[in-house]
Amino acid sequence: MSHKIAVIGGDGTGPEVVAEGLKVLKAAAQKHKFQYQLKEFDFSGQRYLKTGKLVDDQDIEELKTYDAIYLGAVGDPGVKPGILEHGVLLRLRFALDQYINLRPVVLYPNVYTPIKDKGPAEIDFVVVRENTEGLYVGTGGYLRKGTPDEVATQVSVNTRKGVERCLRYAFEYTRKRNKRKQLTLVGKTNVLTYAWDLWERAFHEIGAKDFPDIKREYAHVDATCMWFVKNPEWFDVIVTDNMFGDIITDLGAMIQGGMGIAAGGNINPEGVSMFEPIGGSAPKYTGKNVINPLAAIGAMQLLLAELGEEKAAADVEGAIIKTVAKMPSMAAGKMGMGTTEVGDSVVSNI
Ligand code: IPM
Ligand code: MN
Repeated sequence: MSHKIAVIGGDGTGPEVVAEGLKVLKAAAQKHKFQYQLKEFDFSGQRYLKTGKLVDDQDIEELKTYDAIYLGAVGDPGVKPGILEHGVLLRLRFALDQYINLRPVVLYPNVYTPIKDKGPAEIDFVVVRENTEGLYVGTGGYLRKGTPDEVATQVSVNTRKGVERCLRYAFEYTRKRNKRKQLTLVGKTNVLTYAWDLWERAFHEIGAKDFPDIKREYAHVDATCMWFVKNPEWFDVIVTDNMFGDIITDLGAMIQGGMGIAAGGNINPEGVSMFEPIGGSAPKYTGKNVINPLAAIGAMQLLLAELGEEKAAADVEGAIIKTVAKMPSMAAGKMGMGTTEVGDSVVSNI
């Protein structure tokens, strides 16, 4: 069987890091003897500026025929903020119903963390972020816009079905991960008493009934930020809503070594999933061969795992670990080698 993979290099350094991830894919496919086909899709800011085109319905229908999507980065300084985010990234997540945003926070040996006295044994958890609801749905609007009496509302939408499918995924994931078998719901039950009441009730109902083997914990989102810094070892798997997940995973990325190494997956367990480095398009580093491709290579690892190429995925992770052992820093321009050399190093370790 041949895996059909759609490739979206995107903006800024996106195409550079994607090229390294594809080198790694090629090496992993040779070693593990699987076939794949690639097709590139240009959903960049540059194309938008030339043609006004973003992701349209036909693109979505075509992407539905793929087994996975590999994305570089979205964001162009020449395009007004919000257009590409909504027109490309969020459009893909929503239209393909990728209701899980899976973000592992893993510190590899030799990688610098700003958290004193914490190492790989303490920083190893996964955030399951709901990816299609909450504040991201775009519900709300203005009243009396542009006047002194202007009102703006932005409503968080939480459906029982949407919450439940996310929680079920998180419970299953915790069980499969088979580490501490502990799932922490991260919310704000003390203030946001409607949305988080729904989440909390669903969490305990589903957990008690179908996942008695999984220990249930709860933490407020603000306290979670504190724990990430003070006691990250407290976490195994976290489940949270779209907005809180967005915020805490940037903090998570920092404690695992920075945006240069943080990868994530936008997952539709019943459909087409999309994998991406979680840092942005880093326009100032574009074309300089200085950006760290390891986040994109980590995204390729997640993509391979989702395609069922578990051995290849494990090999890619092993090769990342060997590569970081030789790197003085994960930061762009400070890696002791260039973007392409980091990719070559991972390939040579496969
Ligand atoms: C992320 C990003 C996106 C988000 C932006 C670019 C729309 O910050 O993937 O975390 O908010 O989800
Ligand atoms: Mn974010």
